Amino acid sequence: MTLPLSTQPEADALVLFGATGDLAKRKLFPALYHLERTGVLNVPVIGVARSDWTDDGFREHARDAIVAAEAHADAAVIDPLKDRMDLIQGDYADQATWNELRDTLDRHGSKNAVYYMAIPPSMFPEVARRLASVGLNQRGRIVVEKPFGRDFASACELNQTLASVFPEERIFRIDHYLGKESVEDLLVFRFSNTLLEPVWNRRYVRSVQVTMSETIGVEGRGSFYDGVGAIRDVLQNHLLQVVALLAMEPPAGSDSQYLQDEKAKVLAAMQAIDPTEVVRGQYVGYRDEPGVETDSTVETYVAARLEIDSWRWAGVPWFVRVGKGLTEAATEAVIEFQPPPRLLFDEAGGPPPGRNLVRLRLGSQDGVTFTLQAKTPGPHLDSQDVDISVDFAAALGERSSAYERLLGDAIQGSNRRFARQDVVEETWRVVQPLLDEPGPVHPYFRGSWGPAEADRLLEDGDHWYM
Ligand code: NDP
Ligand code: BG6
Repeated sequence: MTLPLSTQPEADALVLFGATGDLAKRKLFPALYHLERTGVLNVPVIGVARSDWTDDGFREHARDAIVAAEAHADAAVIDPLKDRMDLIQGDYADQATWNELRDTLDRHGSKNAVYYMAIPPSMFPEVARRLASVGLNQRGRIVVEKPFGRDFASACELNQTLASVFPEERIFRIDHYLGKESVEDLLVFRFSNTLLEPVWNRRYVRSVQVTMSETIGVEGRGSFYDGVGAIRDVLQNHLLQVVALLAMEPPAGSDSQYLQDEKAKVLAAMQAIDPTEVVRGQYVGYRDEPGVETDSTVETYVAARLEIDSWRWAGVPWFVRVGKGLTEAATEAVIEFQPPPRLLFDEAGGPPPGRNLVRLRLGSQDGVTFTLQAKTPGPHLDSQDVDISVDFAAALGERSSAYERLLGDAIQGSNRRFARQDVVEETWRVVQPLLDEPGPVHPYFRGSWGPAEADRLLEDGDHWYM
């Protein structure tokens, strides 16, 4: 597999809308530091926000954000980056802000900027239109943060608005999971290992479970989260992107277009989720979080059963779970294989053999574990689980963060790790019934695995693998 092809020329400026915000502070400035260190970022960085900060105040803010994230931040990297940073102070509703931005880019001789929207989603359409009002849509690409819409209709509407201003190949929709090495590895793992492909289908796979569990709660983002919930925050985007990568057919080539085509196909084959096959939960104490309504019914947990009506997957249940305030921080996909057709070794009284599993760890401890069966020592022909496991950090070394990779891609002009319009719309179609008919929300305690009601989604005698 070759490296992603750039579809756009390299950028000559980075414009950061929302440069004084939380995302910029926690993720974007640390990512810029790494891109500066590796020589990918050698362009002016122009922040745009309302806060009445001086250029120097902005540069110090960026420096502090980098130092807070990087234990051994190198001043020799930070200083030249700071020297190329400026802040345009102004409201997006004020045309003067846009004239100043255009003039600033002209001064830098910019012909091809990246416009990064680290701003409230409600502002995406206005900012896109305002860019067009000063002709900046003619010379650059736009990077849109999630959430991309609130439901199927608003996502389609937003796509139409953006499409009226930028062509699709210059719209980069961020889903930071697509920037994770471990998530991208799903492609390599599936399509570079001949061992797997023959069994990666309904004939051999009994079920698939994908879990994204967080121990943290809403962490000061209560007012944002209470308007969103787990379905919109992570199920519609991060989780369904992971499911698409696990379930799709091999792309015709390494070009971005082929990859997006296969994702769109498998998502189109996914049934819209049946609300009776869903359990929503809310951790006890959520309603006391700052910014959360005291009678909120917004979910901090959701588990659902998905069905994919493709030749490869028809009849195989896919179980997905996401939640905050759970017992473990992990993102995992577990592929459970069918039992052997005949149990040769089931001696009377012995335990039935366990199942073969492939456990793909996609979170911070990323790697893969195969669970196989081996003979239990002793007189009987009983079997027991044995694990063959690889820890990717130990085996492959440390990798770059998702935001560093995605910002680097945006600057270098590769849209392969971003989400295409039709793919995003399919994911909203799949979750739309849950938004229309959310059903009850079950309380669960922090530090648990979520509401026990989620067990009813599984087949009789089955259990969640984490
Ligand atoms: P914040 O509320 O912290 O920041 C919003 C930014 O937008 C601020 O810089 C603010 O400027 C600027 N802004 C808002 N309104 C205006 C306006 N009318 N004119 C000019 N500037 C304006 O939001 P976040 O950083 O948390 O989120 C940004 C985006 O990133 C959102 O789409 C969010 O959903 C997404 N996101 C955030 C994540 C996170 O962890 N924070 C994670 C994943 C996605 P000022 O404060 O100076 O007024
Ligand atoms: C973000 C969600 O997109 O992803 C957060 O808005 C969530 O609520 C975060 O905590 C999880 O990302 P990661 O990379 O820590 O798994």
